Amino acid sequence: MFEKLEPAPPDPILGLTEAFNKDPRPEKVNLGVGVYQDATGRTPTFDSIREAQKRLLQADVSMNYLPIPGAPAYANAVRDLVFGADSRIVQDNRSRTAHTPGGTGALRVAADFLAVHGGRPTVWFSQPTWPNHNGVFEAAGLPIQSYPYYDRATQGIDFAGMVACLSRLGPKDVVLMHACCHNPSGLDPDAEQWKALAELQRKHGFLPLFDFAYQGLGRGLEPDSEGIRAFSDAPAMLVASSFSKNFGLYNQRTGALSFVGQTSEAADLAFGHLKRTIRAMYSNPPAYGGALVTTVLGDPALRAIWREEVDAMRARIAEMRSALVRGLEAEGIDRDFSYLTEQYGMFSFSGLSDAHVNALRDRFAIYIVKGGRINVAGITPGNVAYICKSVATVLKAD
Ligand SMILES: Cc1ncc(COP(=O)(O)O)c(C=O)c1O
Repeated sequence: MFEKLEPAPPDPILGLTEAFNKDPRPEKVNLGVGVYQDATGRTPTFDSIREAQKRLLQADVSMNYLPIPGAPAYANAVRDLVFGADSRIVQDNRSRTAHTPGGTGALRVAADFLAVHGGRPTVWFSQPTWPNHNGVFEAAGLPIQSYPYYDRATQGIDFAGMVACLSRLGPKDVVLMHACCHNPSGLDPDAEQWKALAELQRKHGFLPLFDFAYQGLGRGLEPDSEGIRAFSDAPAMLVASSFSKNFGLYNQRTGALSFVGQTSEAADLAFGHLKRTIRAMYSNPPAYGGALVTTVLGDPALRAIWREEVDAMRARIAEMRSALVRGLEAEGIDRDFSYLTEQYGMFSFSGLSDAHVNALRDRFAIYIVKGGRINVAGITPGNVAYICKSVATVLKAD
């Protein structure tokens, strides 16, 4: 059955980490991997989560199955976090949320749901996007296309190109948008652009699907849902949330898929089918990560600690962006990198070519994904000078 298989291609990002782990050079720096690191280079467990763990242990929680969409308390907490408790969507009870295994699980449930109950629409990704979007939606058998997004020449969004492309779409299309902290470019639409995109949706009727993997890491927990809120009046919308980064729950596979309908009844109708999709895929979600999130969000004191922790992550990322730009300037590079401070979240396109990326890895043990995407959270006060010096050496050799 399997003798004729060709070797599977390695995952471009996880493969880089494998090479990094094997590298014996002590000065090595990993700017490729997609996890948050603190100023000491660790991926920490949040204090709020540690406290929630203690409480759950004391509460002696049962390990009985959860319902297909997970615990109702989790769904409500996530709904309020994503849409805002005072939003029209929540006030009108037009959303339903299912707990999924991570953000990837949410996207995969969305993909299968669309394939079976959405009439197999075409899914449109930003060019470029998180590489796994292709894998997830292709696995569900959906046709995939891309709309212009990143403009290498201006280091900004090609908004005119994006609008021109989306204007040609209709009700048989799904537009996947990064709600904030676009991965890999770090470029997010501003308030006016979100409004213009929502207006396009009204005119052309495509289905908005938001990937919300970095809530709180862009401009703040509430401002980061600005794009989603701009689409509040869309007749239907899907939001895939991940709590891997903003709760540090990577290996607890904690995410959610929210469906918004035009009415409460429409939301119930669609959600019934979404539950069937889940039942056939993994039956019901793993409980522990969701219980931790529910505990943190449900207790005002713990929630305040968590908010501070998210705010601190965001501040550290912004600080490292500035330190990088200052450091590169100090190295006397004849190139303006100030755009790095105008981008949001962990990722940025550095503007480095693949030849630069290879030279940085071979000569300086600095690991960056092909295409030049860097994880700013891999920069620390201890390695920023080394990174700037190495980048300067490579650029000056051009
Ligand atoms: C844009 C984007 N979407 C989804 C995910 C998946 O998140 P999770 O690890 O929770 O599956 C990631 C993770 O890196 C991401 O960057």
